[in-house]
Amino acid sequence: MTGRKKVLLKFILLGDSGVGKTSLMSQFVSQKFFIDYKATIGANFLTKEVQIDNYLVTMQIWDTAGQERFQSLSISYYRGADCCILVYDVTSTSSFAALNHWRDEFLIQAAPRDPDNFPFVVIGNKVDLNDRVVQTRQVQSWCSDILNVSYFETSAKRGNNIEKAFETAVHNALARS
Ligand code: GTP
Ligand code: MG
Repeated sequence: MTGRKKVLLKFILLGDSGVGKTSLMSQFVSQKFFIDYKATIGANFLTKEVQIDNYLVTMQIWDTAGQERFQSLSISYYRGADCCILVYDVTSTSSFAALNHWRDEFLIQAAPRDPDNFPFVVIGNKVDLNDRVVQTRQVQSWCSDILNVSYFETSAKRGNNIEKAFETAVHNALARS
């Protein structure tokens, strides 16, 4: 194969504890899902290679801690991200409300150039559960205030929409770089 450009892109998953950040990464990178909850401490990353358009992209996906007491360890990893993936849980209103905080915190800590156009992907996770409380139109309305954002609803448990969400993150990051 000739002519494919190699690029390394950095992604960061942010959102409240328990929304499913680690589960989304695990489903996307290894097609695995774990029922048991194990809090992420600090931050760690996995990589995955994808071919998109004319690019061979190494995705470096950083998973961070949603629990407040572990967050200070994560903050230093925000810098250099090419796209920020904000995750909430469709069965938790507070996790949706917290997206404002996570977005602000990202923009402060990562201090990207051109913050108004920085790419975000918003994920509403756990759509397999039937006690959903956050409605799609609420999220679309929140997103309409942000210039460069895409929205997906996923289930890390079943795997719905995960590839699409991450691929869009790559697209949006490439458009910026
Ligand atoms: P922190 O590391 O504390 O920030 O949490 P997290 O956002 O990484 O959440 P995690 O991926 O650990 O998931 C929390 C719990 O929700 C676990 O018990 C998962 O099995 C469960 N979970 C994650 N995604 C889904 C989903 O799509 N559907 C269902 N039913 N459960 C999920
Ligand atoms: Mg986690």
